[in-house]
Amino acid sequence: MHQHLEKILFSEQQIQKKVCELGAYISADYQKKNLVVIGVLKGAVVFLADLIREIRVPLSLDFIVTSSYGMSTQASGVVRILKDLDEDITGKDVLIVEDIIDTGLTLSYLKDNLLARGPASLKICTFLDKPARRKVVLLPDYKGYDIPDEFAVGYGLDYGERYRNLPYIGVLKPEYYQN
Ligand code: IMP
Ligand code: MG
Repeated sequence: MHQHLEKILFSEQQIQKKVCELGAYISADYQKKNLVVIGVLKGAVVFLADLIREIRVPLSLDFIVTSSYGMSTQASGVVRILKDLDEDITGKDVLIVEDIIDTGLTLSYLKDNLLARGPASLKICTFLDKPARRKVVLLPDYKGYDIPDEFAVGYGLDYGERYRNLPYIGVLKPEYYQN
């Protein structure tokens, strides 16, 4: 385990099993649809890369970048689109893929923004969820795991851009981050 971590939440094996399950659900739900998978950069990229290889129906891929919290672990509540989608999603079956839902502010903004473009459907898939921290009503359609109110890193999740490359998910020791 990385020396900055207090504990491991999910091992590589646990993650792989969960991603397989999610891929199977999504594959079943999107048969004969016009699936567009939208990754929210950068955090979702590792999960997304694993997930799409478990989805057995045709899909196209697009990315969106929203403003991050920088070095703070607290949500500012202000969301901006830094890089928009390349493709038009009108009439498409959109699946937003996120690493983690915390306050829900990012995704609730993104959901409204994308719905205004007239997709045929819009669903959310997140690997992790911290339901206790929610500030707005937002329920993911597909979810890997719920976690308590702790700051998770690894498997795409960062703190100050570090730890994204850890193949497992863990909790940082308090001395390595400040709120
Ligand atoms: P929300 O708008 O508060 O739901 O924040 C969502 C974004 O905050 C995620 O996409 C992550 O980038 C970041 N985030 C929230 N909690 C964590 C965490 O525990 N570890 C790493 N990033 C997090
Ligand atoms: Mg993110």
